[in-house]
Amino acid sequence: NKKLILDLDTGVDDAMAIAYAVAAPNADLVGIVSSYGNVVVEQAAKNSLKILELLGATDVPVYIGESHSEMTDHFDVMPVSAHIHGKNGIGEVDLPEPQRKPEKESGVDFFIEAARKWGKDLTIIPTGPLTNLAAALKKDPEIADLIGNVTLMGGALTVPGNVTPFAEANIQQDAEAANYVFTNKLHDTMVGLDVTLRTLLTKKETQQWRDLGTAAGEKFADIVDYYINIYDEMYPELGGCSLHDPLAVGIACDPSFATTLDIDMVVNSDKEKYGRTIGDTARLSDANPSVSVAIQVEKDRYLATFMEYLTTLFKN
Ligand code: BDR
Ligand code: CA
Repeated sequence: NKKLILDLDTGVDDAMAIAYAVAAPNADLVGIVSSYGNVVVEQAAKNSLKILELLGATDVPVYIGESHSEMTDHFDVMPVSAHIHGKNGIGEVDLPEPQRKPEKESGVDFFIEAARKWGKDLTIIPTGPLTNLAAALKKDPEIADLIGNVTLMGGALTVPGNVTPFAEANIQQDAEAANYVFTNKLHDTMVGLDVTLRTLLTKKETQQWRDLGTAAGEKFADIVDYYINIYDEMYPELGGCSLHDPLAVGIACDPSFATTLDIDMVVNSDKEKYGRTIGDTARLSDANPSVSVAIQVEKDRYLATFMEYLTTLFKN
């Protein structure tokens, strides 16, 4: 089985990413690192612990990562994220205070330890800013050769961004870190808005969770319905909410869900186009491009798998 580490700024779709990773039969979720973005890092860790307890997955350790990008000296939750995910990040739904606490070891050190322990079996799935992964690579550059794969939710190649005309939210939080990861030796799969905006969930599906009559089914339906309502307001043309983060987990577990384009990428950090993910003209003729960008997705097969996994998990 693949060993998965999620690196999350635990909002609503991050919570669905946790559920997918816990449920996936061909993967072991070995840890969660916390990031910032939808909420501050401590809240992200707390949300992850709450979700794991709701799902009965209390053996998965949660680590605290960096609280902001190296380029800023403070972090304020972007009002747009608070609006999309609710003030607490999980759709204003009350879940019991977690019994467990985050680990003492830092998220960055856990990445380094995990790369040395699991090597090519390890897949890291960041679904928030890339600050933690960039910090681990800077602290111990050797891990770039050890880690099996990085499958990240972030960026956009064929469509505009979602927080600026150029930038997707996760990349926009820390364009420098994203550029560090994209231009590093390690191989990345980028699951960006190109595919996540096409992969949608509706209240038809959340009703199926509600109908299970379990706490997990009901709470997840409440959390995700909050997100669907916001999507209906903000993007009425989509007709559902985007499965951004759980799609990255799905593609990490089964790459055949996506068609990819292999290119070398850079991330712009100039003021005007801050956070744009784009091909690197300087490396156009390099033989082994380092990023596989998902440009097409088998969304119906993915959604069927997503529902099968989550429904089975919520039933028990
Ligand atoms: C990404 O931004 C966050 O708000 C979501 O959780 C997702 O990771 C989408 O742009
Ligand atoms: Ca996220």
